[in-house]
Amino acid sequence: MSGPAAVVCGLGTWVPPYALTNEELSALVDTSDAWIRSRTGIGRRHIADAATATSDLAVEAGGRALKSARAHAGPGVDAVVVATTTPDRPCPATAPLVAARLGLGTVAAFDVAAVCTGFLYGLAAGAGLIAAGTAGRVLVIGAETFSRILDPADRAGRAIFGDGAGAVVLRAGEAAEPGALGSFDLGSDGTGSDLIAVRTGGSRQPYPAAGQAADPYFRMNGKAVFRGAVERMTASSRRVLARTGWAGQRPDLVVAHQANLRILHAVADRLGVARADCYVNLDRVGNTAAASLPLALGDAGRDGVLNAGHRVLLTAFGGGLTWGACTVTWPDIEPA
Ligand code: UT7
Repeated sequence: MSGPAAVVCGLGTWVPPYALTNEELSALVDTSDAWIRSRTGIGRRHIADAATATSDLAVEAGGRALKSARAHAGPGVDAVVVATTTPDRPCPATAPLVAARLGLGTVAAFDVAAVCTGFLYGLAAGAGLIAAGTAGRVLVIGAETFSRILDPADRAGRAIFGDGAGAVVLRAGEAAEPGALGSFDLGSDGTGSDLIAVRTGGSRQPYPAAGQAADPYFRMNGKAVFRGAVERMTASSRRVLARTGWAGQRPDLVVAHQANLRILHAVADRLGVARADCYVNLDRVGNTAAASLPLALGDAGRDGVLNAGHRVLLTAFGGGLTWGACTVTWPDIEPA
């Protein structure tokens, strides 16, 4: 990519305060702590209260990222990208509202819809704006109130998904600097669009659908998605690692979409990375879709396992189907 590199210079996260434990969930649907832990690795997930929308979480995380970036990049940004599967409303996008509520003025603002790969796609969009000279600083947020689109009777969905938000600030810089995003590998396969879907509420099947049973909820073919996630994240990661110039050396830390502990282990094993070097916070937050990667980066920084100079591989997979990967040498920043 020509033009300036996009350099990570701030990171902020936020989860709603209430955490629903496996034990509590077991009183609501037919499941158990033992099943959820053994099949997914998840112990609890945060759930937004009824008054909290995705933009509220995005504003919290975005404000913290801006605070974290202040020392490196000064105030303000030129663009806001919000990656989400659960926008406040189908129309308009959530990002302009978030930009206004953060006091960022009349900057460019748009949403990215790539489900669990959304944050990586958002990072790529932000990096592209910087490389093209359209923006000098971009706030990229992943934010979800995924609990809103789950069927209350869907025990698998309720076991996995949670709510939260995370954000980074990107600034224009040099490709050799710590924090500079390396090349991206992004892909999609729309032949699998039915495997993860909310079927009604769009132009194909408006809601309520005349003469049809309306299903406003998120549906997932867990088994097929599991296999796709392992294969696609592994292949995408291999492609970016081959391009990094890390000379066959492995990343210090893999921060992968927190879909399921068994998926993370399978990806680490295939990449030849020790499982201990594949960061896990899904035990505490579950699968937060587009918020998953930045939330994991924030928790990894706070846990002391992600530090300045670490070579980090990011990878994700989600509805669409979509997937991607990217590398970054971690900068000296404090997650807020
Ligand atoms: O974030 C985007 C990408 N998403 C993912 O990567 C998720 C990928 N998929 C998965 O993580 C797993 O497929 C799930 C966790 C969703 C499901 O785990 P699984 O081991 O694939 O289970 P399964 O769907 O094959 O279901 C096995 C059994 C079924 O019962 P029967 O039909 O064998 O009697 C399910 O009804 O487990 C049952 N089951 C549950 N049992 C207790 C499903 N969910 C639950 C539950 N508690 N929460």
